[in-house]
Amino acid sequence: MGGTMASMLFEPLSLRGLTCRNRVWLPPMCTYQAEAQDGRATDWHLVHYGARAAGGFGLMIVEATAVDPVGRITSHDLGLWDDSQIEGFARLAGFAHRFGAALAVQLGHSGRKGSVWPDRAGFPDGLQPLEQGGWQPVGPGPEAFPQLASPWALSTAEVQALPAVFAAAAARAQAAGLDAVELHAAHGYLLHQFLSPLSNHRDDQYGGDLAGRARLLRETVAAVRRVWPESKPLFVRLSATEWVDDGWSLDDTLALVEDLKPLGVDLVDVSSGGNLVTAIPSGPGYQVGLAAAVKQASGLAVAAVGQITEPVQADQIVRLGQADAVLVGRAGLREPAWPERAAAALGRPTPLADSYRRGAFPR
Ligand SMILES: Cc1cc2nc3c(=O)[nH]c(=O)nc-3n(C[C@H](O)[C@H](O)[C@H](O)COP(=O)(O)O)c2cc1C
Repeated sequence: MGGTMASMLFEPLSLRGLTCRNRVWLPPMCTYQAEAQDGRATDWHLVHYGARAAGGFGLMIVEATAVDPVGRITSHDLGLWDDSQIEGFARLAGFAHRFGAALAVQLGHSGRKGSVWPDRAGFPDGLQPLEQGGWQPVGPGPEAFPQLASPWALSTAEVQALPAVFAAAAARAQAAGLDAVELHAAHGYLLHQFLSPLSNHRDDQYGGDLAGRARLLRETVAAVRRVWPESKPLFVRLSATEWVDDGWSLDDTLALVEDLKPLGVDLVDVSSGGNLVTAIPSGPGYQVGLAAAVKQASGLAVAAVGQITEPVQADQIVRLGQADAVLVGRAGLREPAWPERAAAALGRPTPLADSYRRGAFPR
């Protein structure tokens, strides 16, 4: 490695009272395995997150977890809308901590993108109709997402009630011993639906200009911060752009983040798209520039995500100061010990659990 700067990917990262052992994190990825349809974590989740804790990830963000049954994407989503769901999350957290990984949860509400078949989520024709066990989703207005159900347009009073619903779920995440909460305000789900001028045509205080459209997210951040311990970080995932001229833009994101900062957000997880069907110019690291822009403008910590698959690429993002952590998604599905491969490539000690150390790559 003569002449190159020291690698940074395996340096610890501290946010409030949480110190993560490294900057290789697992982004939230739905697995739709709450098979009793009760939102509770199962053996599947213990195996899935457990393998990646033993595989060396510094922090894992548990997949989109519904704050309300109507806010599930599918019937098999995880949930934190009921106290009976705390125990399963506590088991995941205990296991992750035993092997040195921090555990966060992404709290979400699907809004008008709910009621999708568990095995068809992510497909354009995935709708699970009402007559076949689906449900009517809700949204900022009556307009449907293409090929999905027509939502119930939330009244002002119903919108006003939502921040407390998110906060109650965050309190359960605290009861389960989780280390961080991420609010899902990206990918065209409910909080993003309110932000975007393409999906929010309301004429009450939750619509109109950027400040009005962002009101629900601001109130939600503030409500969650009131119950989430001061010692623990709060993340927000945003779609930094919708990739169309008349949609939500990077400038909107930068303005929004300025408003979120004083409310106690510690890290922005910078993604894009998802609120409409359009082509996205994807490729290796295609969202890193967006993360770097948010970091530079706001001074907040950011996580970069999207086709980050190679150790040197991941390390460079952190080394160049484009992001504080990288999220390795699909590569982390096919390779639970991706951090070990990265550590070996960068000449760092293995992050594997002790029982696996004899299986580490030669250094
Ligand atoms: C199977 C799967 C499920 C996903 N579920 C979620 C989710 O629950 N919440 C979310 O914000 N993003 C979700 N995503 C997006 C990922 O978090 C990530 O942003 C995306 O896969 C790009 O990163 P990658 O190229 O490293 O996979 C999902 C992606 C995949 C492949």
